[in-house]
Amino acid sequence: MALTKLCFLLAVVATFAAVQTAQAGDPDILSDFVVPLNMSNGKIDGNFFTYTGMRVLVGSPYPSEFKVLKASKAEFPALDGQSVSYAVLQYPSGSVNPPHTHPRAAELLFVIDGSLEVGFVDTTNKLYTQTLKLGDMFIFPKGLVHFQYNADKDNHAMAVSAFGSASAGTVSVPLSVFTTNIDDTILAKAFKTDVATIQKLKAGLAPKH
Ligand code: GLV
Ligand code: MN
Repeated sequence: MALTKLCFLLAVVATFAAVQTAQAGDPDILSDFVVPLNMSNGKIDGNFFTYTGMRVLVGSPYPSEFKVLKASKAEFPALDGQSVSYAVLQYPSGSVNPPHTHPRAAELLFVIDGSLEVGFVDTTNKLYTQTLKLGDMFIFPKGLVHFQYNADKDNHAMAVSAFGSASAGTVSVPLSVFTTNIDDTILAKAFKTDVATIQKLKAGLAPKH
């Protein structure tokens, strides 16, 4: 009898955990939209739902290094509770968006200029790559390490990425590992190399003044 009860309890817990996993994402809100704490409801009009931060792209020259322009909850507060955000990605010829993850969202990338080499690694360490042409889309599953590279020597590239979270978060693999003061000995052991090599990697990633 006790065993039957235990099995039942375990089944309930497992079902609950599975539902929680399937629903993992931005929390649902119980209102049409979220009004920031420092704003009164009466002050909300169309401007609150409009983001003009991407206008800087119009007519401006290509950057000399890879550049991301975000429209997430931080830049565009009306996204709070709506489970969506955007980024515009500019890749000068030969530039790379280094390996990184988004802990809270999948990313749907749409190439609107040039071409891109892209890839992600799954949790079995299998690498999936693709060469994207103008007009192609690619999905980077939530939380997995991914990158993009503009291998074209003569042409820049541009992409728009949609995220399934108002605040997808970005964890850069090189920056989080080599610029956060993790002990050199620990990193040398983890990467099966020597401290001098780790210090060289750290120096290359240190912010330039
Ligand atoms: C591109 O992958 C980005 O998240 O910036
Ligand atoms: Mn990304």
